[in-house]
Amino acid sequence: GPSDAVKGDDPVKLDFVKRKMDGWEVIESPGSVWVTKEKDGWVAFDPHCTHLGCPYRWDPTKKEFLCPCHGAVFAKNGSVVSGPPPKPLHRYPVKEEAGNLYILPEETA
Ligand code: FES
Repeated sequence: GPSDAVKGDDPVKLDFVKRKMDGWEVIESPGSVWVTKEKDGWVAFDPHCTHLGCPYRWDPTKKEFLCPCHGAVFAKNGSVVSGPPPKPLHRYPVKEEAGNLYILPEETA
């Protein structure tokens, strides 16, 4: 999607379509990420809490991500502020090209 959809300081939830080749067939599946901009560039967080996978939301008043399931709080940079999550929010690689943001495939080990 267009990078200008992310304005101001608050992260924005954006939808995307994941395309995967399966033989000759292209399989498309919907997804979403929370996108924000840091000093070093764009950041896209997986929209599921790293505790047990609940969808979390951004609270523009508190300036934190809040998970409703077990009360986790994440900072804007994805780090755990409080609650049970064992690790920060998962980040996807992002690139910006011609004014559009792309979520890149992750390298697998
Ligand atoms: Fe988010 Fe448990 S799933 S705090």
